[in-house]
Amino acid sequence: MTILIVGGGGREHAIAEKIAENPKVEKIYAAPGNGGMAAFCELVPLSATDVAGIVSFAQTHAVDFVVVAQDDPLCLGMVDALKKVGIPAFGPEQRAAMIEGSKVFAKDLMRRYGIPTAQYRTFRSYEAAERFLREDAVFPLVVKADGLALGKGVLICETKEKAISAVRAMMKEEKFGAAGRSVVIEEYLEGPEVSVLAFTDGRTVVPMVSSMDHKRALDGDVGLNTGGMGTVAPNPYYTHDIAERAMKEIFLPTIEAMNREGRTFRGCLYFGLMLTADGPKVIEYNCRFGDPETQVVLPLLKSDLLTVMQATVDGTLDQTPVEFSQESACCVVIASGGYPVSYEKGFAISGIEAANQAAHVYHAGTKLTDAGIVTSGGRVLGVTATAATLREAIDKAYKAADQIHFEHSFMRRDIGQRALKAEEKV
Ligand code: AMP
Ligand code: GLY
Repeated sequence: MTILIVGGGGREHAIAEKIAENPKVEKIYAAPGNGGMAAFCELVPLSATDVAGIVSFAQTHAVDFVVVAQDDPLCLGMVDALKKVGIPAFGPEQRAAMIEGSKVFAKDLMRRYGIPTAQYRTFRSYEAAERFLREDAVFPLVVKADGLALGKGVLICETKEKAISAVRAMMKEEKFGAAGRSVVIEEYLEGPEVSVLAFTDGRTVVPMVSSMDHKRALDGDVGLNTGGMGTVAPNPYYTHDIAERAMKEIFLPTIEAMNREGRTFRGCLYFGLMLTADGPKVIEYNCRFGDPETQVVLPLLKSDLLTVMQATVDGTLDQTPVEFSQESACCVVIASGGYPVSYEKGFAISGIEAANQAAHVYHAGTKLTDAGIVTSGGRVLGVTATAATLREAIDKAYKAADQIHFEHSFMRRDIGQRALKAEEKV
């Protein structure tokens, strides 16, 4: 089989590596891919959002199956366009990708179907939002841009002034373009966060092993929000009882709600949950695998990924085994100094091969040049190790990550520490 993977981050590298394990796979194209994927995939110089370009490439290169891993092409209808020309593709159709593409839609869906989430109001006019913030709101609260905003459209506001300036930036100054024309203002929830990725074909839903992201840039969960500085799996806060409750109160009702709306979801649905005193509540839905959650979840998958992905497209997930190892995994992200604000690119990277001996080194912001692998983004690499215990996985991941060097690199040193503490309590 010939496979095309759309995207070029650490998540896509992890997906490609797993798909390559299937003996039927002869060739993997990646558009645009990255420096690490270049070792076993053919890179295609197309942007992940170029729907027409990707469809025509898939047609002319006899591609049998496409994995659309990134949110924006899914929201642009890339899976619909591929299916229209008879090419099966993993990921939701545009109508279903809306569950991530519009937070107003997702919140209203949860309200209509009684799915637990934070209390909220939605606003289409700046004046109405400001009036609400001045007269009725309770702080802290959370202001969210409706549309896709590269993970930057969520602001936690402790004060009225901060909330008003957030709403002004979104709705008046159009800091996030069309994505901020409508906003959600919601109740601030507290509790540990859990990411649960789930395969679904619209009928059956199969949650993967749970994970914990570390979104802040610096140790101790301080500093700016990033795309994710590291992950561990499983997430010790996510006990068997909570998992059962989430299945009954959140996962199945969400799949059913999407069916009733005529928006059947097929692919990977990401549930960002907060475990509150009142039980698990949805913080966000994503219509795709998480990054860097995928980098700890897929190394623990024992079943064949391509077979499971095909089952989500064919509607046969109920007959397809999806098994995970009982081990733990830890992924440490190595970033460019200055990320997530501004950073330089083009630095040579050394030590990848040594690190690869005991870990998976997933590339994210790298490029293969004549001079070797160089940095080309903010999050450069994700180093994942698996082991029998979480503590061992963490040690192994850091040992491997410490072998990698490039100018101005940095990583958090405390990935997994909160999870270790939670393990002691649970
Ligand atoms: P998102 O960009 O939707 O992933 O949100 C970024 C982060 O903001 C989440 O991971 C949470 O830590 C935080 N967050 C989002 N919504 C809420 C909420 N209602 N209460 C507390 N924290 C939230
Ligand atoms: N790690 C969070 C996300 O993928 O959205």
